[in-house]
Amino acid sequence: MRQGNVKVNMQLLRNLIIESINKKGKITFAEFMRTVLYHPQYGYYNSDKERIGEFGDYYTSPTVHRMFGELIAKQLEEIWRIMGEGAFTVVEMGANRGWLCYDVIQCIKKEYPRFYDNFHYIIVERNLYAREKQRSLLNAINLTEETPMNHLDRKVSWRTYSEGGFSFDKIQGCFLSNEFVDALPVHRLKIKNKILKEVYVGYNAPNFCEIDDEVSEPALKDYLETNKIYLKEGQACEVNLGAAKWLRHVSEKLNKGFIITVDYGDTIDGIYCRNDTECTVRCYYKHNVNRDYYERLGAQDITAHVDFTNLMNTGRSLGLEVTGFTRQSHYLIALGVLERLHNENNDIETILKEKNLNHPEGMGDVFKVLIQHKNIVNPQLTGLRPLHLVTV
Ligand SMILES: C[S@@+](CC[C@H](N)C(=O)[O-])C[C@H]1O[C@@H](n2cnc3c(N)ncnc32)[C@H](O)[C@@H]1O
Repeated sequence: MRQGNVKVNMQLLRNLIIESINKKGKITFAEFMRTVLYHPQYGYYNSDKERIGEFGDYYTSPTVHRMFGELIAKQLEEIWRIMGEGAFTVVEMGANRGWLCYDVIQCIKKEYPRFYDNFHYIIVERNLYAREKQRSLLNAINLTEETPMNHLDRKVSWRTYSEGGFSFDKIQGCFLSNEFVDALPVHRLKIKNKILKEVYVGYNAPNFCEIDDEVSEPALKDYLETNKIYLKEGQACEVNLGAAKWLRHVSEKLNKGFIITVDYGDTIDGIYCRNDTECTVRCYYKHNVNRDYYERLGAQDITAHVDFTNLMNTGRSLGLEVTGFTRQSHYLIALGVLERLHNENNDIETILKEKNLNHPEGMGDVFKVLIQHKNIVNPQLTGLRPLHLVTV
């Protein structure tokens, strides 16, 4: 997109939001975030903007190195064996350019041919530009003797997810996401004079402003009660109601199998142990982090830490058991990232990239992996084993 268009689109989006505020008096932060990220024409995630990677606003693990996808492929093959080696569907949420899918398929084809014959990959993507880019990336894989197009259509399909749920039938296999949940809109709450308040977005020309008022829906109070979150005076909290809704839809579609959710965030103890009162909502623009939520509308990302306790509690209420929860560094090391690195003739760049995936100050500690399962008895996964059992 050209710079001129970006500016025009930002202004159009701003006008739309102001119009909505003028009509309603104020909007929730969740509505504001939904509009700037997902407005059909001007939303950050509906544009053709280069969002991720060197020329975008931030990196994600699949864009750092193919090893991330290769280890996920290894995980999927183990799950396939645990589940009896039948037909297996992988469903990936929000695949962006398709790198994770590309690396997973390449690796499965090369290293696990029996699994390769049994699996199908569904990409859940609503951005039409992203779909095109995923398709052309995947078309580049030399999959079989068949014409690539035929083969791609047999191995990969594209579906959607909306308020009403997924556009496909029940599956047996694994739901997979990397940095999907943190991109869902959040409500912002805080305690002010011992009373629970919600932070709304208002407009006081020429600027947006924040307004504290009564919480907009009972589900927000329920969330605090169910997850036993007790806020201190002045402390802020974000509530991602879409995460629980999404998990409910996932559970409806999962006959038998696993859900692997990789994202940054923590359990409630980790999120609320901080002494600071600030919320975890952040913006990413050209590899800089900021809290200027009301700037660069539709041109910068807005995210919040994922509350994994909520995903675990919601899952349990839906019959999804927790297989395990760990740091990304633990998960990748237990799955064999160090052996893989050792076995390859690596250059310094690869080593540095691998370090970024694992290192506590890179993505290793901030990112977590939650694995849940349904209709499987006590599965043991390599990536969740204690690290003292790992030999390098
Ligand atoms: C941070 S990006 C994920 C990046 C990608 N998984 C990676 O690892 O590089 C979040 C993604 O979630 C997608 N998303 C959000 N809501 C969605 C929905 N309802 N259906 C499909 N994708 C959605 C966005 O379009 C975006 O591609």
